[in-house]
Amino acid sequence: MKERSSFNSKIGFVLAAAASAVGLGNLWRFPYLAAQHGGGSFLLIYIILSVTFGFTLMVAEISIGRKTKLSAIGAYKKLNKKFAFEGVLSMIVPMIILPYYAVINGWVLKYFAAFISGEDKAAAADGYFNAFISETGEPLVWFLICLAGAGVVVFLGVTHGIEKSGKILMPVLLVLMVIVVVFVLSRPGSLEGVKYYLVPNVKNLSFKTFLAAIGQLFYSLSISMGILISYGSYMSKKHHIESSVHQIEFFDTLVAFLAGLMIIPAVFTFSGDAALSSGPSLMFVTLPKVFASMATGRIVGTVFFLMVFFAALTSTISLMEAVVSNFIDAFHMKRSTAVLITLAYCGVLGGLASLGYGPLSGVTIFGMHILDFMDFISNSVLMPVVAIITCIFVAFVIKPGAIIEEVEAEGSVFRGKKVFSFIIKFVAPWFMILILISSIMQALGLFKL
Ligand code: TRP
Repeated sequence: MKERSSFNSKIGFVLAAAASAVGLGNLWRFPYLAAQHGGGSFLLIYIILSVTFGFTLMVAEISIGRKTKLSAIGAYKKLNKKFAFEGVLSMIVPMIILPYYAVINGWVLKYFAAFISGEDKAAAADGYFNAFISETGEPLVWFLICLAGAGVVVFLGVTHGIEKSGKILMPVLLVLMVIVVVFVLSRPGSLEGVKYYLVPNVKNLSFKTFLAAIGQLFYSLSISMGILISYGSYMSKKHHIESSVHQIEFFDTLVAFLAGLMIIPAVFTFSGDAALSSGPSLMFVTLPKVFASMATGRIVGTVFFLMVFFAALTSTISLMEAVVSNFIDAFHMKRSTAVLITLAYCGVLGGLASLGYGPLSGVTIFGMHILDFMDFISNSVLMPVVAIITCIFVAFVIKPGAIIEEVEAEGSVFRGKKVFSFIIKFVAPWFMILILISSIMQALGLFKL
């Protein structure tokens, strides 16, 4: 048995958690959801949910990990045998996310390749993206490159080194984003987009906005996937959980916010606001148009897609590491076997997700393409289920006091403890049940939002 090493500094912990938090969720998923769901209204709800629900669940999961020094499956079992299934359930979420995450990682790699090979102007043309994802072979190849690349890193067990490189690349990405934001905001017509993105409009406030925001929050902060429990298990008692959570949330939201500020006003300037509802294609369609109108657009675009690629790849790697280490723990497999099994099932599921926009585009499940359905099952069904059980577990089985005690270890002050107890007992479980029921009814077509 290897000694459980711990993060030797608080900032080390925050950066590792932030590196797994920042990825396609911030750069690709957040902007298209914000665009679809009313801009400012979405942003406002997202921020409110983040400091209440997001905060509460992150504190709970990190504390469970640090208290037990075990990852999800072992942690729940140790605290209460009857809740061992919760560990298993939370393990399924990253298993479903990983294959389709690698598919989108492949799309980013394709855009990087297009920019570096001088196809940047072509990439800005209408129809380029759709032509690409509706092909059979090409998206599959890019996806398999990303999947195999992540597989090699996880097999060699060097994920730590890779995550460190992410810490150098992250600031570069941020600087680039600021440059693109400034450029976009200096274009005529962008002000209307800024208004749409920043000013909440009551007209756009709906229950659907809530649904989308909470799903996105969990996705982006990697909540309800066992991930934070594992990170917590490596955290030292000396370090302050509450302020770490604030920092991770701040950083993660900042990146998402900038991505939105880069993409949404650009939609108004370069595509017209009808494109706001375009969904998963939004980033891929909008950004090349921005770069095409920039004097140094090819260089900026090339470096930008490279940075997004690395942010995505580090997340693909940590998702895979989560899946593989769960296999190792649960079935006492060798690392090599676990990696092979992971690659095999991801190859199949991801392959289907990739083909789902091409030859298999006729296949829909509850009206969704295969990739969208995988996103829906993991984010709108399983995550709320795991979150509800986590809340019940903390509120009524181990009691909020157990978490508070862990946060207050070694004299740390837990300023938000009243908020924490209140939300975990009285608000979160009910709210999550509502979310779950409505998203299932919506999928079944029983409920139109
Ligand atoms: N939070 C990541 C993002 O925003 C995606 C993600 C979900 C993830 N679960 C994860 C990353 C687990 C690493 C580990 O893109």
